[in-house]
Amino acid sequence: MTTLTAPKSRTIKAPPVANRKMLIGGQWVDSVSGKTFATLNPATGEEICQVAEGDKADIEKAVKAARKAFESGPWPKMNASERGRLLNKLADAMEAKIEELAALETLDNGKPLRDSLHGDLPLSIKAYRYYAGWADKYHGKTIPVEGPFFCYTRHEPVGVVGQIIPWNFPLLMQAWKWAPALAMGCTTVLKPAEQTPLSALRVAELAMEVGFPEGVINVVPGYGPTAGAALTSHMDVDKVAFTGEGRTGQIIMEAAARSNLKRVSLELGGKSPNIIYADADMDAAIEGAYIGLFLNQGQCCCAGSRIFVEEKIHDEFVERMTKKAKARRVGDPFDLETEQGAQISQEQFDRILGYIDIGQKEGAKLVTGGKRHGDRGYFIEPTIFTGVKDEMRIAQEEIFGPVMSILPFKNTDEVVERGNRTFYGLAAAVWTRDVQKAHQLAHRLRAGTVWVNCYDIFDAAAPFGGYKMSGIGRELGEYALQLYSEVKTVYVNMGQ
Ligand code: NAI
Ligand code: MG
Repeated sequence: MTTLTAPKSRTIKAPPVANRKMLIGGQWVDSVSGKTFATLNPATGEEICQVAEGDKADIEKAVKAARKAFESGPWPKMNASERGRLLNKLADAMEAKIEELAALETLDNGKPLRDSLHGDLPLSIKAYRYYAGWADKYHGKTIPVEGPFFCYTRHEPVGVVGQIIPWNFPLLMQAWKWAPALAMGCTTVLKPAEQTPLSALRVAELAMEVGFPEGVINVVPGYGPTAGAALTSHMDVDKVAFTGEGRTGQIIMEAAARSNLKRVSLELGGKSPNIIYADADMDAAIEGAYIGLFLNQGQCCCAGSRIFVEEKIHDEFVERMTKKAKARRVGDPFDLETEQGAQISQEQFDRILGYIDIGQKEGAKLVTGGKRHGDRGYFIEPTIFTGVKDEMRIAQEEIFGPVMSILPFKNTDEVVERGNRTFYGLAAAVWTRDVQKAHQLAHRLRAGTVWVNCYDIFDAAAPFGGYKMSGIGRELGEYALQLYSEVKTVYVNMGQ
């Protein structure tokens, strides 16, 4: 997908990890309550270390520090280009530690090291570099209004932002949140997911080393209903940005509404249709559908989890996909040959196996997989269902695991209607050699991203986000700058 300096195949070990504190106002501190929680290695289920557990009192301290840094620290007064320089320095520091960070991500998340190394890390680093460039370029307008007035707009930082991220792409989600917010001059309180706090804390450490002023970035690990809820309902947080489950997004929006009407951006789940026509390049379509679903153990908000295959190629498609799924290398995430690692947690593991059970009870046909892989850690076999009907739960709900549903279709109008018949609208894809059909579908599918003859292509410069219940707002690209800025209109009486 993207390359940067990354080593050729050899062994990289998990770095040693000590217990971790939280970062507030430039200081590494214990939680006010003194409580800690364990973060686990999903490949073994064993504890990696203890992490300071933030709650309301810690959020209170962190928001105060972020407010102080915003109101009276050097951050808002700094030249915008200097903020860009710091973001570039953070990107450089991450690149210098790329193997350590990739290994830490794999240790805490269970994803294959080759994905962390060749995907998560390069994409995260590029996001920081991309927004470093924007820091001094997002400027306002002068507007020809009536009367003797000179009118202009300023793009000002929205203020103190609360950012809550999930566990599926910890480093990348931190970059998508931090980079545009910091480029715009906001200060932030980040709550990483309780399952994966380690890489966020390590990057925060690097940020302090390269010279981010104290209080600009604050990281408070902890749980959603405690630390997360305190952040979203805080009266002195100007904006909250969240990625995660739709239901959590609803709770967060409600908390924002009930407190101070803070701005809200949400990146939620999906049940993305991946539509494969008989006239597609079959090899490419099979590879794309395979990656589009199984990537990251199926734990992707944009997973192509409803695969619509034109009837006349259905059986061939199923046969070839099954062969590929059976050959997928599942196992030790630190083995650079491994393609599929562990699911994030016991909870997600149970939930996915629950859906596999539901699929069978609903009458879908289990063609391959369906069971636990190995006898420790949270590994699940690559699983394929055929004979899936639109109304089945496995075709409607986000499974967030390596479970593929294949649904045959006959014609374009039908597949567009079925593809769009969902509350979600995050992504979609179409595979065809017919350029007219490709563009027609790209326009008719109600989704924030449509991939044509490709899947899971991401670029820091191109926006990403959802229609309908898949979210509010767009991250990445120039569009994300709107999430972290306010537009101020200034009228000056010129006196003529
Ligand atoms: P979640 O949405 O509960 O967790 C994501 C983040 O939100 C975590 O940092 C969590 O601590 C925080 N959070 C939870 N409750 C909160 C609250 N009341 N107030 C503020 N913050 C809160 O997702 P979870 O439980 O980890 O996974 C459940 C399902 O969500 C998955 O099976 C998957 O379907 C979906 N999901 C979607 C993601 C995406 O990228 N869109 C990422 C992770 C999960
Ligand atoms: Mg949850």
